[in-house]
Amino acid sequence: MEIENAIGQRVSVRDYLDKPIEREMLGKILESGRLAPSSGNLQPLFFIVVQDKEKREKLAVACLEQYWMAKAPVHIVIVSDTEKCKQYYGIRGERLYSIQNAAVAAENMLLMATSLGLGSCFVSAFNEDQVSRELAIREEYRPQAIITLGYARTSKRTEKASLYKLTFLEVFGNRVENADVMMRNFNFIGKAVEKSKGVLEKAKDRIKLSVEPILKKKEKKKEEEKEPEKA
Ligand SMILES: Cc1cc2nc3c(=O)[nH]c(=O)nc-3n(C[C@H](O)[C@H](O)[C@H](O)COP(=O)(O)O)c2cc1C
Repeated sequence: MEIENAIGQRVSVRDYLDKPIEREMLGKILESGRLAPSSGNLQPLFFIVVQDKEKREKLAVACLEQYWMAKAPVHIVIVSDTEKCKQYYGIRGERLYSIQNAAVAAENMLLMATSLGLGSCFVSAFNEDQVSRELAIREEYRPQAIITLGYARTSKRTEKASLYKLTFLEVFGNRVENADVMMRNFNFIGKAVEKSKGVLEKAKDRIKLSVEPILKKKEKKKEEEKEPEKA
């Protein structure tokens, strides 16, 4: 699936079929988390794959009683090595990068899941101590998010704000009336320009090829017309 389709099709799924996920799919999703960017390439993350039904039920309770989660056949708990982030980047590493590292890995996983035809949901409303206890996560590490995975039974699309509302040009607050059209068409415009460049080059070559002999002929004729005068 093209990346733009995966981005467009992804929605948070909270209603799953009672059907396991193929191992290869799980592997691809984990791999997409592994390859995510991280601050200074520290890669300060661990992924706990939870398939055990009882554990999933306990996690659903720890997630402020989001019981729907238990029906998802797989939970991936993203755990950050917050201490490592702090060692390298101080308070900013501890409070911000550790969260951002987990978030980018999570988004990679959500998009990979979508592209494989799976439903997923990013969950982070949970009691951290409870999650850590259930999964024996050591004190220096923090669970940042739980990704639920499985085949969707139903799903619902949410409303998203327009680009016009979200986008400023150059400085904060500078809205441009046609920003939506401009940004949405950007790729297509870019492609069109590229394409037309090729067409133009080819056309120039073709013109050169067909015009050159005519010009040569004309010049020759001129020369021939001039010659009797000289004589
Ligand atoms: C930081 C964060 C925390 C979230 N926590 C939860 C959660 O605990 N439970 C849940 O059902 N959805 C959770 N979500 C999913 C959002 O509710 C969902 O992304 C949002 O409603 C937009 O819907 P969409 O994902 O279908 O586009 C969370 C999303 C993010 C980014």
